[in-house]
Amino acid sequence: MRLLVLGGTGFVGRHIVECALARGDEVTLFNRGRTAPGLFGDVEQLRGDRAGDLGALRDGGPWEAAIDVTGYRPGEVAASSQLLAGRVERLTFISTISVYRDLSRAGADETAPLAPPPGRGGWEDYGALKALCEQAVRAALPGRALTVRPGIVAGPHDPTNRFSWWVARLARGGRVLAPGAPDRPLQLIDARDLAAFVLAATAARVTGVYNAAGSSDLTWGAMLDACARGTGAELVWVPDAALLAAGIDESQLPLWIAASSADSAGFMRIDSSRAVAAGLRHRPITETARDTLAALRPEDGPGLDVALEARLVGG
Ligand SMILES: NC(=O)c1ccc[n+]([C@@H]2O[C@H](COP(=O)([O-])OP(=O)(O)OC[C@H]3O[C@@H](n4cnc5c(N)ncnc54)[C@H](OP(=O)(O)O)[C@@H]3O)[C@@H](O)[C@H]2O)c1
Repeated sequence: MRLLVLGGTGFVGRHIVECALARGDEVTLFNRGRTAPGLFGDVEQLRGDRAGDLGALRDGGPWEAAIDVTGYRPGEVAASSQLLAGRVERLTFISTISVYRDLSRAGADETAPLAPPPGRGGWEDYGALKALCEQAVRAALPGRALTVRPGIVAGPHDPTNRFSWWVARLARGGRVLAPGAPDRPLQLIDARDLAAFVLAATAARVTGVYNAAGSSDLTWGAMLDACARGTGAELVWVPDAALLAAGIDESQLPLWIAASSADSAGFMRIDSSRAVAAGLRHRPITETARDTLAALRPEDGPGLDVALEARLVGG
């Protein structure tokens, strides 16, 4: 298909573009040219800024479909979507499971209530703003919009230092602090599985809303075992209470608060069965860990103080 990707050189966007090119799609990119400017040198590039300079979109195309990977502000998403309504047949918007109002309970599906209108519009309003972005896309292209709500995304080239943090820590070996309990659920969707689903659904003219979180079978134990393979690392499980007493927070131990606090107990228990029925497949976590390790950057590193970790694991 002739495909426009808004924001195709970041993490999720890069995998979407790689998947599209592998499928044989004819891809055009729209971005400012700041992120990974050398990537996809053979692909048509439109330069612009969704915060105000959409001229290249007005002049380009038409396209069969567009995928908007990097929409965060409703006004900007409304402007690009309204413009694209006359340039594309359909538009796929990459949203997030953070749009849901209440993630304290397990099993949120696509019908769960959404976050109330944003307050100050800061990072704490991420989910509420994404919910308004979704609305803006649907309003601009009624009956022609697909919304995909990923959970936490993992895989090669992830700049967020969450799953890759654990891959980097396990690769260093030794006695490794494993937070909470091994049977606690953890949902991570491999960016390549997300991309495959997004592309297939977009090509098949699917519309509507789909959660796309990780497999509901994954646990912290399985994730850490996968990252520990071949490293000689020894997992030492430390209960939440001991971690909280030591003053540890999410910045020191990525993914742990999200998995352990009462407010977000459902964050790792999202219902993606609708997407699975529509073709979403999850690769084994061992594959995600292996490929993330191969693509690690120097900055993907432990934030947990080495001495504090040693004290907590008794090493
Ligand atoms: N990572 C996760 O775990 C996770 C979980 C749930 C949902 N999501 C969703 O997945 C998406 C993340 O996408 P991503 O990882 O690819 O990173 P991203 O930071 O959202 O997007 C980066 C891309 O957008 C372009 N871009 C940034 N600002 C721009 C602007 N003002 N105008 C035009 N282009 C601009 C960048 O290129 P230039 O800098 O060259 O402009 C780059 O191509 C988001 O929609 C997020 O809500 C992510």
